[in-house]
Amino acid sequence: MTTEPIRTLPTPGRRLGVLISGRGSNLKAILDNIASGSLDAEVAIVFSNRGKAKGLEIAKKAGVPTAVLSHRAFPDRESYDAAIVERLREHKADVVCLAGFMRIVSPVLLNAFPDRVLNIHPSLLPAFKGLDAPCQALDYGVRIAGCTVHFADETLDTGPVLLQAAIPVRDEDTHESLTTRILTLEHRIYSKAIGLLLDGGIRRQGRRVLLSEAAERAAAEIHTEGERKPTYAQ
Ligand code: GRF
Repeated sequence: MTTEPIRTLPTPGRRLGVLISGRGSNLKAILDNIASGSLDAEVAIVFSNRGKAKGLEIAKKAGVPTAVLSHRAFPDRESYDAAIVERLREHKADVVCLAGFMRIVSPVLLNAFPDRVLNIHPSLLPAFKGLDAPCQALDYGVRIAGCTVHFADETLDTGPVLLQAAIPVRDEDTHESLTTRILTLEHRIYSKAIGLLLDGGIRRQGRRVLLSEAAERAAAEIHTEGERKPTYAQ
């Protein structure tokens, strides 16, 4: 049991800066959840390191400002991240959501938004970090797979876990079907996790993120929407 002190995270404002590199289906889910009223937030800016990222079209269609900067134009990670922070501040973003952003972020960005940079990863971390996590999970032979929303830190897929959701792996699953089923879950869990952070009252003790009872209930709801419960919870 950790003896580190418990601290309550400050409640951030509700303006999101979403960082993408590609397809943008998580961005789309966030925008849809905001439009339907299930997430009380506003996407202030969508930033991409790739001008060809499909997600930029999704942002434009939704009337959200976009910014593109190639990391190749910067000498190091720090100067690139400083330019991202500038864009995020210009648009008054309060919280940063990494949504398929294929870059490790440096302390320059993390310190500009302390406890307010989230990432989503398609595995139950700490298992299966890095690329093609659902394929790694299927090939390993796990029976439960899922996804994780965590606070970002300077290393890939290692920050403190905010929320996880699990699904059973089926005998008939393929790389494609498991990836798709996990992605569907991602689209629900990310908005849920962002909502928890924006609603405030989240506490941290070392790596552990402590959720209030209401937040725990919200997290549990993920398993009752759509996908059947994981076998351990049935
Ligand atoms: C998602 O699987 C996310 O978990 C991972 O990258 C993928 C991005 O997909 N970090 P999309 O661009 O949101 O469709």
